[in-house]
Amino acid sequence: MQVLVTGGTGYIASHTALSLLEAGHGVVLYDNLSNSRADVADRVEEISGKRAPFVEGDIRDIDKLLDTIKAHQCDAVMHFAGLKAVGESVERPLAYFDNNVGGSIVLLEAMLESGIHTLVFSSSATVYGEPQYLPLDEAHPTNAVNPYGRTKLHIEEMLFDLCAGNPDFRAVCLRYFNPAGAHPSGLIGENPGGIPNNLMPYVAQTAAGLREAVQVFGSDYPTPDGTGVRDYIHIQDLAAGHTAALAWVEHSPGWHAINLGTGRGHSVLEAIAAFGRACGKTIPHNLAPRRAGDVASCYANADKAAQLLGWKAEFDFATMCASAWKWQQQLASHS
Ligand code: NAD
Ligand code: WQD
Repeated sequence: MQVLVTGGTGYIASHTALSLLEAGHGVVLYDNLSNSRADVADRVEEISGKRAPFVEGDIRDIDKLLDTIKAHQCDAVMHFAGLKAVGESVERPLAYFDNNVGGSIVLLEAMLESGIHTLVFSSSATVYGEPQYLPLDEAHPTNAVNPYGRTKLHIEEMLFDLCAGNPDFRAVCLRYFNPAGAHPSGLIGENPGGIPNNLMPYVAQTAAGLREAVQVFGSDYPTPDGTGVRDYIHIQDLAAGHTAALAWVEHSPGWHAINLGTGRGHSVLEAIAAFGRACGKTIPHNLAPRRAGDVASCYANADKAAQLLGWKAEFDFATMCASAWKWQQQLASHS
């Protein structure tokens, strides 16, 4: 297929672009560069030996979208473009609703106008809110607890209604758990601007000496070592999950939600220790108060992805840490 990848130069999309190219699809990277750089397209080419054209554009710009879809003859969309910082979404909710929800409406209008009916959407396990039971399966009630999460839920609901009213339309909402790691080449990875909100980039920067110490947010949770437990999934597994989802949804009209996770949880202290082993250093860390809005544990039941997509996560946590460390070390030479 010829796939329009929105947010195409971002962290998850760039790894997914590689997976799509390897599977023989054509890829167009569409991004407004608000949180990534255009040279990611060069690195994707360097790794894959295939050029995915890059178009600088905003998903809220329907003319640019229509032109791009037409010029590249796209017949499917993978929709990654969005703002994703939970804390920022509390401070700037309208910017999140405008960009994420408003942008998705414009993108869907462009798809309908162009006759494209196949969509893979970046949702998040954040739509489940506080777990009522674990592991989280797709039947778990949704209850997003912050503006970012609510934008994901609104988009999911919008897609549900769109599919209900358009029998030709097929949309799969992939609910990611915690993406981590980088491509083994060290050429692409996650490069958050400013102080990282997420644990793994913060640990990587601490290992590199860019941060003094990791603050462990909460050590009194009802978990084996008292620190928060999450389901970290290797970015390459996540990327492969998208390619599998595209192949499946092409023949599966209607609305679908599928978890992408490993089914295994790791605590913050386990994560710090594993990263330390990967880089051969002791990572300085301090126990700190809980972070507002965090849950004790969150991990996936990934059976639906296995049954429907024939997909399951292959890489272990040590591999995520080793690839993230390789990427972190090479970042300086890319900046
Ligand atoms: P990212 O910031 O690296 O990628 C998002 C990309 O979208 C960026 O390149 C940014 O420049 C672009 N973008 C933002 N607004 C845009 C707009 N209006 N028009 C065009 N491009 C725009 O983030 P990521 O981690 O790769 O996340 C990709 C998607 O996955 C997001 O939708 C995010 O909400 C979702 N997600 C991420 C995580 C995570 O922990 N990383 C977890 C679950 C879901
Ligand atoms: C993981 C664990 C923290 C930083 C977030 C979003 C979620 C999704 C993925 C997009 C928790 C602890 C963290 C630090 C710490 N994104 N921690 N010190 O909160 O599970 O999920 O990213 O959809 O929506 O909420 O990920 O990496 O921030 O935290 O101790 O400096 O690490 O308390 O237990 P989280 P995270």
